Amino acid sequence: RIVAVIMVGGPTKGTRFRPLSLNIPKPLFPLAGQPMVHHPISACKRIPNLAQIYLIGFYEEREFALFVSSISNELKVPVRYLREDKPHGSAGGLYNFRDFIMEDDPSHIFLLNCDVCCSFPLSEMLEGHKSYGGLGTILVNKVSPELASQFGELVADPVTNELLHYTEKPETFVSDRINCGVYVFTPEIFTAIQGVSTQRKERATLRRVTSFEALQPANRNLPTDFVRLDQDILSPLAGKKQFYVYETMDFWEQIKTPGMSLKSSGLYLAQYRIISPDLLASGDGSKNATISGDVYIHPSAKVHPTAKIGPNVSISANARIGAGVRLVSCIILDGVEIKENAVVIHAIVGWKSSIGRWSRVQASGDYNAKLGVTILGESVTVEDEVVVTNSIVLPNKTLNLSVQDEILL
Ligand code: GDD
Repeated sequence: RIVAVIMVGGPTKGTRFRPLSLNIPKPLFPLAGQPMVHHPISACKRIPNLAQIYLIGFYEEREFALFVSSISNELKVPVRYLREDKPHGSAGGLYNFRDFIMEDDPSHIFLLNCDVCCSFPLSEMLEGHKSYGGLGTILVNKVSPELASQFGELVADPVTNELLHYTEKPETFVSDRINCGVYVFTPEIFTAIQGVSTQRKERATLRRVTSFEALQPANRNLPTDFVRLDQDILSPLAGKKQFYVYETMDFWEQIKTPGMSLKSSGLYLAQYRIISPDLLASGDGSKNATISGDVYIHPSAKVHPTAKIGPNVSISANARIGAGVRLVSCIILDGVEIKENAVVIHAIVGWKSSIGRWSRVQASGDYNAKLGVTILGESVTVEDEVVVTNSIVLPNKTLNLSVQDEILL
C-alpha cells in the first residue's frame, strides 16, 4: 500500500503570493479552475494501491475542512488535513505525523510540495525507485543555468542515478539539475529524520558545556524538531547510496508568485487536453462565445456569445462576461463582472471585482517580472474607459484614472 503526503505550509509562508493569499490559503488558489492542491491530489489518485492522502500544514483546520471533505467525495479517495502547531520544516512535519502515516503500513510514502506545477509522473517514479533501491527517489528536472540557484541543485550518477551531491539554493553554480519537490521514500526515512533530530539534541547539550556553536553558526538557533528535507537530509546523505533521482522531461514550474500561477494555470489547461478534455470549453454552437486555445469556464459563469476568449483563460464560478469582451491569458475569479467591450490580457482579476465598459486590464506577460502580470485584489472596481497596465491593485480600491507600473495600496 502507498500513502501520499502533500506539504501545504501555513499563513506565514506564501507571502510572495500577496495580495491573492490575503483571501485564501495559497494551496487553494484556483489554477485551471481547480484549487492548486487539487492537481497533485488527482495525480496521487492515479497511483495503484493508494490508501490515503494527507495534507500537512499549519493553517487553521477550518480553512481546509470544506475542501478536504469535498475532494474526498469527488475523487473517492480519503484525504485528510493534519495540522502542525508550528512549522517543523518539510522533514520535521512528516516525522511529526509518522504514526498516522504508518497506520496503513505503507511500503512507500510519496511527499509532494504543494507549490509546484508538473505532470507528477508518480507511478513511473515509483517503478524507478524500486529498481534503484535506497531510502528515496527525488524527481529532478533540467533548468537553465541562470534559474538553477532558486532551487536545490544536485549532481547524480548518469548510470546508476545515485544522488552524489546536493546543495540547497547555492550562490555559485553547481548543476542545472534541480530538485522538483516531489519524492518517494521507504518508511526508513523516519529513521534518517530522527537521526538529525537526535544529533541536534546532542549538539545543543554540547553547546551548553563548550563553545561548539562557533563551528555550527548556521544551525545555531534551529529547534531540535525542525528538520528540512533538503539541507538536513539530502545534503549529508548524498553519495551514500541512500538517495536516487528520477528525471522528468515533462513541464515543471514552481509557484511562488501570482505571475507563476498564471503560467501554471496555462500548463494545467494544456494537460487537460490529454487527461480530461471534458473540462475544456469547446465554443461549438452558435450560442457560445468564440474560444481559442485552452479555456476553462465554470458552469455557473455567464459568458456573452459575442465575447472572444483564450488562449490560457480560466473563469471561475458566477463570473459575468459581457458583450464584445476580449480575454487572453488570464484568471477570472468568482463573482467578477466584466462589462461590455472590456479587454483583459495577462492579468488575474480578484473575487467580486468589476471592470467597466471599454476598459483594459493588461500587462507585458513576463511571468518572472514583479509587474509582468496585472493583479487586481478582491472587490476592486475599474471604472469605464480606464487602462490598468503592469500594476498590482490591493483589495477594495476603485480606479477612475488609468495607471501604469504601479502598486496601489
Ligand atoms: N507543513 C509544512 N510545515 N509545510 C512546509 C513547512 C513546514 O514547516 N515548510 C515548508 N513547507 C511546505 C511549503 O508550503 C512548500 O509546499 C514546501 O513545503 C517547500 O517549501 P520550502 O521549504 O519553503 O522550500 P522551497 O519551496 O523554497 O524549496 C524547496 O522546493 C523546491 C522545489 O519547488 C526545496 O526543496 C528546493 O530544493 C526545491 O527545488
